Amino acid sequence: MDPEYVKQITEVVSVPMKPDNNEFDSYEYENVYLHTDILKSTMEDLKTLHIREDDVFVVSFPKTGTTWTQEIVSAVLHDGDIERVNQLHTMIRVPFLEMSFGIDLENSPKTHKIIELMNSPRLIKSHLPGQLLPPQVWEKKAKIIYVIRNPKDMIVSYFKFAKMLSPRKNIDLDVTFEKCMDGTNPYGKWWEHYLYFWQRRNEDHVLFIRFEDMKKDLRGTVKRISEFLEKSFSDEILDAITDHCTFENMKKNPMTNPDTLLKAIIDINEGESFMRKGTVGGWKGELSQSQCDTLETLCKECFDGTGLSFT
Ligand code: PPS
Repeated sequence: MDPEYVKQITEVVSVPMKPDNNEFDSYEYENVYLHTDILKSTMEDLKTLHIREDDVFVVSFPKTGTTWTQEIVSAVLHDGDIERVNQLHTMIRVPFLEMSFGIDLENSPKTHKIIELMNSPRLIKSHLPGQLLPPQVWEKKAKIIYVIRNPKDMIVSYFKFAKMLSPRKNIDLDVTFEKCMDGTNPYGKWWEHYLYFWQRRNEDHVLFIRFEDMKKDLRGTVKRISEFLEKSFSDEILDAITDHCTFENMKKNPMTNPDTLLKAIIDINEGESFMRKGTVGGWKGELSQSQCDTLETLCKECFDGTGLSFT
């Protein structure tokens, strides 16, 4: 990695967060709610952002398996050289395109500018809905790996994460749920986010994957991603990447566990972790029957006839 890029991006992710951070502070931008840490000026800059043809994007709605996917993709792009992967933290290796960090957001260094310094091929993370990604991503057909997760698990994970990053706010599951039902949570209506990419899933430069499939067959997913990125690996390399990306290994590895950097920028309560459970079906015992019914009705309304479903 370019040393100047590493230096500048390290500064970006090391600035302390506002102690009164609220993960649900948002504003409306082109009909989508965005977190207030995503500046309008950044969104305007993205409209003309220069994209390289060999850029690789991991795109997702929050809490659907982004960090997991980015780690697999990063290891693949490092040709399975795990020792080299582990030289830098995942949040340094994979910049978060639209996000600004810190208290003085307007004057903070901007990730979308710093990525100019990255060597190719660049791997970039974004939670933006498809229509708000830099237009050149679509025009130049940069590779996109989009990950999706059962909305029930996504909402519970979102709630726990928001609570963890808003230690001074009383974040409530019912309020989180309501926001996720009316699309006023950051990144807006998840069902529209999911559908945008579902409808483009057969484009050559798009790979659509599911958290649940990764859980069922991690090695198979590593292979799929490798093939998508035109890499042909030996069994040993596929095994090494798979082993590097299990939940247990990512949790105990300071270079893949986001806690390493998050704990340095905000007070996180004892026992809380970004790498929380990493399971399928963890929503049971968290969401009420009536919340499940409401969610299932919404899914029926939005996904019936599209071929997209969640079991
Ligand atoms: S973020 O903040 O939006 O980028 O979060 P994101 O990475 O999309 O999602 C976080 C959830 O993914 C789980 N996770 C994993 N699960 C299984 N295996 C691996 N290796 C893995 N890595 C991350 C993480 O634990 C969060 O899910 P929950 O359900 O909260 O545990």
